[in-house]
Amino acid sequence: MSFLKEIERRRTFGIISHPDAGKTTLTEKLLLFGGAIQEAGAVKNNKIKKGATSDFMEIERQRGISVATSVLAFNYHDKKINILDTPGHKDFAEDTFRTLTAVDSVIVVIDVAKGVEEQTEKLVAVCRMRKIPILVFINKLDREGKDAFDLMDEVEKKLGLTVTPMSFPIGMGYDFQGIYNIWEKNINLFSGDSRKNIEDVIAISDVESPELEKIIGQKPADKLREELELIREVYPDFNREDYLDGKLQPVFFGSALNNFGVRELLDCFVEIAPTPRPKESETRLVDPKEEKMSGFVFKIHANMDPKHRDRLAFVKIVSGTFERNKPYLHVRQGKNLKFSSPNAFFAEKKEIVDISYPGDIVGLHDTGNFKIGDTLTEGEQMSFKGIPSFSPEHFRYINNADPLKSKQLEKGVDQLMDEGVAQLFTLEMNNRKVIGTVGALQYEVIQYRLEHEYGAKCTYENFPAYKACWVKPEDPKNEEFAEFKRIKQKFLAKDKYGQLVFLADSDFSIQMTQSKFPTVKLFFTSEFD
Ligand code: G4P
Repeated sequence: MSFLKEIERRRTFGIISHPDAGKTTLTEKLLLFGGAIQEAGAVKNNKIKKGATSDFMEIERQRGISVATSVLAFNYHDKKINILDTPGHKDFAEDTFRTLTAVDSVIVVIDVAKGVEEQTEKLVAVCRMRKIPILVFINKLDREGKDAFDLMDEVEKKLGLTVTPMSFPIGMGYDFQGIYNIWEKNINLFSGDSRKNIEDVIAISDVESPELEKIIGQKPADKLREELELIREVYPDFNREDYLDGKLQPVFFGSALNNFGVRELLDCFVEIAPTPRPKESETRLVDPKEEKMSGFVFKIHANMDPKHRDRLAFVKIVSGTFERNKPYLHVRQGKNLKFSSPNAFFAEKKEIVDISYPGDIVGLHDTGNFKIGDTLTEGEQMSFKGIPSFSPEHFRYINNADPLKSKQLEKGVDQLMDEGVAQLFTLEMNNRKVIGTVGALQYEVIQYRLEHEYGAKCTYENFPAYKACWVKPEDPKNEEFAEFKRIKQKFLAKDKYGQLVFLADSDFSIQMTQSKFPTVKLFFTSEFD
């Protein structure tokens, strides 16, 4: 198959949701359609279960599983589908943000009864900022939930989207009869049987036809006609360009658990979802169709087997073909590297692959060369943009609890930060180290992993910061910047890349600082140019 055809057939996306909305269930049903797994229950749930074990032990257990579920690839019709896993737990939101730099589109799963939840709002905001095409799947229609129109209103208001329904439910919960597929113009009747076949779909060319009453009954037929009329009046027609530009979001209804409405979603998705998209680098826009390979690291998994210090760096291929044993330039380190056993992912297995295409993810075995955000090219000096660090929400000093193991501690902290588990700040004043995280859980994870993987022990001490602000003076030589540094010296630190950061202790202090030093700009993410 030609290079261009290979690009054309790829669909690389993420499924995002608030925990429990049905992301894992939907993923599993999609894999079933792709023939990638044979039975339900085969996809291991990588969410953090509450209960018997402590949360962080559970995270450790899940870390083993999540290598397998990081990328789930399968073929559907003539398309190659790559689903990138995104953790739903809020303490791991930054992992998800980073994964969103590697997807070409997303499917947002919303629980029909709970509506738009907090985590969904945060993740969709990031997608909108990056203009990622979004498709919405409203799940659990077999249960009582909110009215479909109210829910679409809520999606528009809370998520800032402009929706267009592609299907519409006939009843809900106890009265749920099925779905009218606006996109395909047919009715899919619900029988609550997950082994239902496509044959059960009834094509209906015109909703005005008396056939409709025979199928769903007089009252529901009248109601559906009214609703479809309203949809035509109120919602814009689907338009692929607008969807791809992030201006319009198609909505599907269904029940993942019952495998209902999922085929409709997938069939439409493979038609409309974007093929691998161009990506901005610091110097230029890189097109997938370019012959020369380029890609970037968006995720690192380390020490799955602590005896072997193994790391797997996940690279999204942006352009060209990635080939086994070919030398590529590691731009940040300025050195050429060859990979003798790049992994591709298929369903839940990984296997060595000779060639990968734009949109694909390859897993590279790494001995410590990679950091998140690193770029690989065929020699061009360029780095991809778009993997900023976000301000952490928790800050603590990290102290060495075993003086004989200070080297191990340093190495462990360094490597865990490369993986993106947390962010390290070194105070300007005294070189003390502060660890910043999105969730409190990460501190336990770090402590546990330092001990078990590096043989080092640490303790923490509170550091009174509230937000990390990356600092950019308009003029690094002016008096104002010097004064800023003098007054704030106790709160200034360098991040891992040597950028200056102001660790502010309150919103008030940020505001005061901004008004006192207007030429010193403060940013809440590390990438602000
Ligand atoms: P998540 O990955 O988004 O966190 O959600 P997950 O798929 O694990 O689903 C959360 C719960 O919702 C699961 O139940 C799942 O079975 C259920 N669920 C998913 N889709 C549907 C649906 O269409 N209808 C109904 N009624 N339920 C659905 P659980 O009891 O928490 O877990 P389990 O014991 O069933 O695995």
